Amino acid sequence: MGPRPLLILGTLVALLASPAAALAGNGGFGPQSPASPNAEGIATSFWFITALVLGIFLIVETLLVVFVVRFRRRRRPRTADGPQIHGSNRLELAWTAGPVVVLFAIAVFVFVKLPGIANAPDATASGGALEIEVVGQQFFWEFRYPNGAVSIDTLRAPAGRTVELSVTAPDWDVIHSWWIPRLGGKIDAIPGRVNTTWFEVEEPGYYPGQCAELCGLFHAKMLMGVEVMSAGEFDEWLTAAGEAQRDGDPALGQELWEGVCAKCHGALGPDGAAGGYGPKLAATTLADVNTLENVIRNGRALPGRKVMPPVGRDWTDQQLESLYAYLEDELGDQS
Ligand code: CUA
Repeated sequence: MGPRPLLILGTLVALLASPAAALAGNGGFGPQSPASPNAEGIATSFWFITALVLGIFLIVETLLVVFVVRFRRRRRPRTADGPQIHGSNRLELAWTAGPVVVLFAIAVFVFVKLPGIANAPDATASGGALEIEVVGQQFFWEFRYPNGAVSIDTLRAPAGRTVELSVTAPDWDVIHSWWIPRLGGKIDAIPGRVNTTWFEVEEPGYYPGQCAELCGLFHAKMLMGVEVMSAGEFDEWLTAAGEAQRDGDPALGQELWEGVCAKCHGALGPDGAAGGYGPKLAATTLADVNTLENVIRNGRALPGRKVMPPVGRDWTDQQLESLYAYLEDELGDQS
């Protein structure tokens, strides 16, 4: 190789090295390792299509390079025309039929995979599928379990059982998107509409995700996750949470405070940093249950100023009680 091709090759390698490193540092360009059958279906489709287009890319680029070298000008004059060719039935058939076959293969593969991604399997396990309501709001996720228990930002689920999610957003809110990459695709949380998705996880553990729809200034703070426990542990937790929350549970109160209030208004106490979206809340304000309920239920709309959505318009009294119980504990400790 002469100096010029070497230079070009060197430049190309240097150019490709930095995006490759960035890609690797960011978890690579493939889907995260799937932990639920629907995520599995998405990942398989991804790799199938990737392999196919990579093959086509290699064939096309190889031919391109070969032709560039083989049919270079050499010593022919710049103005010399090539041979005039008209038609080649075999070639034309090949480049028409080839793409049709490729597209057909992708379509068939995806349509075979799709039902397994979109539809929850028929529940055969004892107790059937577990149904959980998922509500996306600026800037938190609320989960409602069949027994009335509630959790914020962390969805708890049993291993080995199909979990069906009804995903929505309240009328006054905006569109969010539920996305736990290892447990399936994105599903939008749209005001006034209920979308459904599901997952089934065998391996207990924590599966992180984030809101995948730009929904406001603190969209990036809408992180969430699914904590999968063994079936026994989950049943225990659900029963305990349901019972504790009936009379106001400081543990839920803490989730509400940290997930809903503190994200915008900052942490409790004089040393707590302000949240950067909405004023820092004084202990005196927080101790006034009536003001607190009014703001949580109705939000705040002041002309010409930032607006707070009515985050807790749909909250149960138990949720409010839980928040008060937590704040009472915390503020009591500080004074
Ligand atoms: Cu909610 Cu982004």
